[in-house]
Amino acid sequence: MNGSVLTLDDIAAADREDFRREVLAGLAQKARAIPARFLYDARGSALFDEICELPEYYLTRTETRILAERAPEIARLAGPHPALVEFGSGSSVKSRLLLDAIGDLAAYAPIDISREHLEASAARLRRDYPGLNVEPVCGDYMTLERLPHMGADGRHLGFFPGSTVGNLEPADATAFLRRARRLLGDDGALVLGVDLRKDARVLHDAYNDAAGVTAAFTLNLLRRMNRELHASFDLDGFAHEAFYNEGEGRIEIYVRSLRDQQVNVAGRSFGFARGERVHTEYSYKYDLPGIEALARSGGFRIGALWTDPERLFAVAYLEAACTK
Ligand code: AVI
Repeated sequence: MNGSVLTLDDIAAADREDFRREVLAGLAQKARAIPARFLYDARGSALFDEICELPEYYLTRTETRILAERAPEIARLAGPHPALVEFGSGSSVKSRLLLDAIGDLAAYAPIDISREHLEASAARLRRDYPGLNVEPVCGDYMTLERLPHMGADGRHLGFFPGSTVGNLEPADATAFLRRARRLLGDDGALVLGVDLRKDARVLHDAYNDAAGVTAAFTLNLLRRMNRELHASFDLDGFAHEAFYNEGEGRIEIYVRSLRDQQVNVAGRSFGFARGERVHTEYSYKYDLPGIEALARSGGFRIGALWTDPERLFAVAYLEAACTK
């Protein structure tokens, strides 16, 4: 390593070590699980973009429609000269709806763990919004301690779209909101996209698409382990499994072993019995009382909430609640 300056190779090596450690720990557990963040390597991210276009996956287009319709109202609620802070910005596609609607935005701070994504999207934004102060933050929004100084005299407006909050277990969702509340300050607000509870069939289909893109997304985790951890997963020996657990109000996603088999991962051997599963994702769905309770647990209250006519998806405008 070169003083305290990390090169891209150092970062890639640290990421790979994190992956190796989490996979070995996750496969050693009785209830096997691998954290969902590892689904998003380059191929996984491309497959997720494809998922967002699927006819069965109503989430992205429904949220985009709500945001497009409500962006002027969000701009009005945010007040003069706000700074927009996006948690997990990716390619900042939905944030453009807010950037277009908030005419006097003081700054935009996209936060993302992938430096590559962040820099490419910041460059595109600076090109498309020449007067805008773009302050990218490379980091994990679950542990971020402070925001850059953005010189905004208006409020900090957080943005957490896509129902990404649904991929967090309830205690983590509360911890995220508390952190966002602290980062955004006493005058802060947060625009939160949340997928709603609904007919189990609609939910089931959204995670079991006919074209098999979601299955490819889940099984890509095995490919990634083969490539990065010298694993020996036979992709035909495993299947994607996703179902709605009505009691818990969540989609559960697993990789299921189709036969008894032995697999090497990072120099260790793991036995998989036929039918055995490795958990990869939860996707929690909320109802209105659930959104209210979540907001309250994180130190916010609901200032406004919009849904589509079929009540598939909700966008909530949360205001920091008084802590005194
Ligand atoms: C990113 N996240 C909100 C997606 C979801 O719907 O929970 C991830 C996903 N997994 C499979 N399909 C979509």
